Amino acid sequence: MKRAVYPGSFDPITNGHIDIIKRASKLFDELIVAVLVNPAKTPLFTVEERMELIKESLNNMPNIKVDNFDGLLAHYVSKIKADVIVRGLRAVSDFETEFQMALMNKRLNPDVEIVFLMTSYEYSYLSSGVVKEVARLGGDVSGLVPKCVEVKLLERVGRR
Ligand code: PNS
Repeated sequence: MKRAVYPGSFDPITNGHIDIIKRASKLFDELIVAVLVNPAKTPLFTVEERMELIKESLNNMPNIKVDNFDGLLAHYVSKIKADVIVRGLRAVSDFETEFQMALMNKRLNPDVEIVFLMTSYEYSYLSSGVVKEVARLGGDVSGLVPKCVEVKLLERVGRR
């Protein structure tokens, strides 16, 4: 059985993430969407809220689980006995950081493989950061995030 982890901040999950999750879930027996608990950052949504929004957005897809982790991703991956880390690549600009992270994760956990999925064209400009900024500044975020995320996001930035 092949178990893969799709790690990220997901603050909040976007339609770009959902696209990667749906495609990755067809490649592996089990996909764990793992939300990073990072005390160094002040996210817009708590870990619990982020996990809840991911679950709601995925609507009980059968081979997907939602979890959270802290510390090193490589250690989390061995702890849950996963074989693969999945990451999405949007543009050349993502490559450098992702390459560095992939090599470090491989060094820390030589048993893991890191698999990259190219983003779908329509989401190539999308990030949680951009979506939050547009929401904060009064722009339209519909179609960029699932409806449940849009509602929470507008609420959180004081637009509802
Ligand atoms: O959604 P993001 O913010 O691009 O996800 C980044 C993430 C969570 C995958 C990365 O920051 C991570 O794995 N952090 C855990 C700490 C760690 O393992 N650091 C060393 C990797 S080089």
